[in-house]
Amino acid sequence: MGAARTEGPVTLVTGGGSGIGAAATGRLLDAGHRVTITGRSRERLERFAAEARTRAETKTGAQHDGDTGTLLTVPGDAGDHESVTEAVEATVRRFGRLDNVVANAGISTHDTLADGDPERWREMLLTNVLGPAVLVKAALPHLKGSRGRIVLVGSTAGVKNTPGNMYSVTKWALSALAENARVLVTGDGVGVTLVAPGRVDTPFWESREGGMPEGPSITAGQVAEAIVWAVGQPPGVDVNSVVVRPVGQIH
Ligand SMILES: NC(=O)c1ccc[n+]([C@@H]2O[C@H](COP(=O)([O-])OP(=O)(O)OC[C@H]3O[C@@H](n4cnc5c(N)ncnc54)[C@H](OP(=O)(O)O)[C@@H]3O)[C@@H](O)[C@H]2O)c1
Repeated sequence: MGAARTEGPVTLVTGGGSGIGAAATGRLLDAGHRVTITGRSRERLERFAAEARTRAETKTGAQHDGDTGTLLTVPGDAGDHESVTEAVEATVRRFGRLDNVVANAGISTHDTLADGDPERWREMLLTNVLGPAVLVKAALPHLKGSRGRIVLVGSTAGVKNTPGNMYSVTKWALSALAENARVLVTGDGVGVTLVAPGRVDTPFWESREGGMPEGPSITAGQVAEAIVWAVGQPPGVDVNSVVVRPVGQIH
């Protein structure tokens, strides 16, 4: 049976059950972090946790009783204030501290101002904009104590404009949140990094008719490397913005 680890940085990743969040979580666990992941689908989180346990057992040769002691799953909606606060508090109850939060959960309606459904925009705005804001608010008291870091997963859609794209509007808001948060918290020793990926091959595109558009893409693992690099900076160093595109992506 594997003993629960009581040391190592503690990181909370929203939307950690798939895509970029799952890839980042896997790498953070490998780097010795204790990690909480959130997501709306309990089943998706449990599937990821089972895979993480199998990987840990293969690595250490130890048998785990369903809990490696390093991964906590907290089902919940990243756009809901109470849910996000509970994820932060559950993390601190379980691991005793909080060093990093990664606001990664996000969705796209894959539509435009001309043809989109405003009711679907509401969910996207809550997830992509309100969610990261309430995560910062809930985590801040703990991050001030640990002199921790906030990573916001934005998008190149929040760096370049595209015609009438509501998803892009939410990611521009996130880019603004990153810099607004940075100037608020840097005096408290807390770092803020915006990681803005270009096109990434993940389940994100399953909700788009026709799937991922033609053209070059990078992997979730390649974006995860940037997230882990940002949180692994030495004390006193704050990487504020990382844009990661596949070679050949114009916008
Ligand atoms: N893929 C790309 O090309 C690309 C490019 C630039 C930026 N991004 C950004 O990267 C981030 C991660 O996306 P991904 O590509 O890794 O896609 P993904 O595989 O679909 O991952 C998104 C994760 O967020 C979770 N999630 C979605 N809405 C949520 C909510 N309201 N509350 C809690 N969890 C929620 C999903 O789980 P549940 O459905 O179970 O909740 C899922 O695990 C997003 O912010 C996305 O905007 C993606």
